[in-house]
Amino acid sequence: MTLARPLIAGNWKMNGVEASLDEARTLAALVDERPPAARVALCPPATLIARMADLLAGSGILVGGQDCSREAGGAFTGDVSADMLIDAGARLVILGHSERREHRGETDAVVAAKVARAVAAGLEPIVCVGESLKARQAGRAIAVVDGQVRASLPDVLAGHPFAVAYEPLWAIGSGQIPELGEIEAVHGAVRETLAAMFGPDGEGAPILYGGSVNGDNAQPILKAREIGGALVGGASLKAAQFARIIRAI
Ligand code: PGA
Repeated sequence: MTLARPLIAGNWKMNGVEASLDEARTLAALVDERPPAARVALCPPATLIARMADLLAGSGILVGGQDCSREAGGAFTGDVSADMLIDAGARLVILGHSERREHRGETDAVVAAKVARAVAAGLEPIVCVGESLKARQAGRAIAVVDGQVRASLPDVLAGHPFAVAYEPLWAIGSGQIPELGEIEAVHGAVRETLAAMFGPDGEGAPILYGGSVNGDNAQPILKAREIGGALVGGASLKAAQFARIIRAI
């Protein structure tokens, strides 16, 4: 089993217009100055993927989507297919983010169908899981996350690169993060499940932590056991702040 190189991915969510590409340009310069230990990715809104991919070509920074359709193509107004993301220059895609599970009603089954479509297109999925505050307080964090991992990662992932992002719902955008030991406990459980599901591929896939990661708290998080990188929202919008996180690994 080989442990995959860590991955630090920035999730711009529904933020960013043409002018925001300046941040990607600045990030490319910062990464070029000091090559990072981790793989680095930016996931802008769909409208910016092609332009950002052109801009970052040769920089070593990968570009990802934030979602894709579970359908191959056709009459699905407003949706973006996995093949379209590849065509635009994306190499990764975030799937099952809690904002989509919560606001768009995406179930584990929907996420699994999207993951299957993404790998068939040649995208590397970053599959998000995470418990609510209620579940955490009821002592059910690991049970909830484990259930999501089992139901959101289809068998067809075997043999393909993928990552899992553990993002407790209550830590996203809140400034609150779990204790390191709590993150390690969840990541350890996810690792066991991934190994049972996918053998050596599951033993090596990066397990990212996400939720209020910033330049000040990144170092201890990224150095903790079984943490293979980070999925970063707000702090990925500004290159200088994101670069501090990238350099913390
Ligand atoms: P945050 O978002 O870093 O702003 O908390 C993380 C995410 O939602 O992926």
